[in-house]
Amino acid sequence: MKQSRKKIAGVIVVLLLSVCFYVGGKQFFKHQKSIDEVKHIKIGVSIYDEYDTYIAELMQEVSSLAKKKEMEEKIAITVDVQSAGGSQITQNDQIESFVDKNYNVVCVGLVDRTDASGVIDKAKSADIPIIFFNRELVNEDLERWDKIYYVGADAVQSGVMQGEIILEACKKNFESIDKNKDGILQYVIIEGEPGHQDALVRTEYSVKTVVNAGYTLQKLGNEIANWNKAQAITKMTSLLEKYGEEIEVVISNNDEMALGALEAIKNSNIESYPLVVGVDGVQGGLESVKKKEMIGTVYNDYRGQAKAIVEMAFALSLQQDFPEELNLIENKSIYLPYQKITYDNVQEYIRMLN
Ligand code: BGC
Repeated sequence: MKQSRKKIAGVIVVLLLSVCFYVGGKQFFKHQKSIDEVKHIKIGVSIYDEYDTYIAELMQEVSSLAKKKEMEEKIAITVDVQSAGGSQITQNDQIESFVDKNYNVVCVGLVDRTDASGVIDKAKSADIPIIFFNRELVNEDLERWDKIYYVGADAVQSGVMQGEIILEACKKNFESIDKNKDGILQYVIIEGEPGHQDALVRTEYSVKTVVNAGYTLQKLGNEIANWNKAQAITKMTSLLEKYGEEIEVVISNNDEMALGALEAIKNSNIESYPLVVGVDGVQGGLESVKKKEMIGTVYNDYRGQAKAIVEMAFALSLQQDFPEELNLIENKSIYLPYQKITYDNVQEYIRMLN
């Protein structure tokens, strides 16, 4: 009896020691590279389209933060930004060329957010971590490898905030917003790309927020303008031809399309302008809020997102842990909070973002 107890104890000790060695070994082999060892960090970035204003502002910020980081850390950092021109096949090829060039990290704004597998397979085969941004990949893809990350924002929050901006305006001045005095808000929606998380969700939650606060809304029409100002001008022009003065509120999934809608309104012969609300806080959007043409916008924190991308890419290149202040969810994703911008606080944003 005593003998077998001793044996069991022996086996347990051996097992415990093996576990300790395994865990310790893993830690030991997670070797953090020193700056001297790496010398030059190369980050490959593939964006879905070079004509997207919001993405252009985000990329400018990524490049300037990388320059700053280079000076601070005294290590060369190259950020190679390529546009996929709206083709997932081109984007997959770009990732392949980043892999061939031995880049340390790739950052990807997917063309088709439901089709991440080409990008993942290529980077994974070379063990190069991927930071996806802005165009949220589906959860199964995010979970496919432990070196896949996502930087973005919570689409629901942006829709709710758009709704709140409309609500605040209604509380102050419903009489003049409700042009035909029927007690109902007649609205149109200008939508971003179909299938993009921000288009679907902003549309839903902006309207829901106003309805839940007790107002009655009537949708006159909705048009897809793919985040693009020129398309929004065309689409809004046709909505104005159909509904003209009846339109009391224009909800746009982003600022560029809101600016397009405004241009169409200015070119039309309607006398009393509807409320126009956007999302992003790009330069044109801020200017328009300042001129009281747009009632408000929702800041899509491109500065915070750019910072997260650069800090994460830097840490991954040196195989370091991420800085704690980034506050990643499950060490994988980060969602920067949106912020409401109206005439009352727009100057702060103009100052901050210039
Ligand atoms: C922005 C849009 C942008 C789109 C691109 C959205 O989050 O609000 O302005 O066009 O992302 O994916």
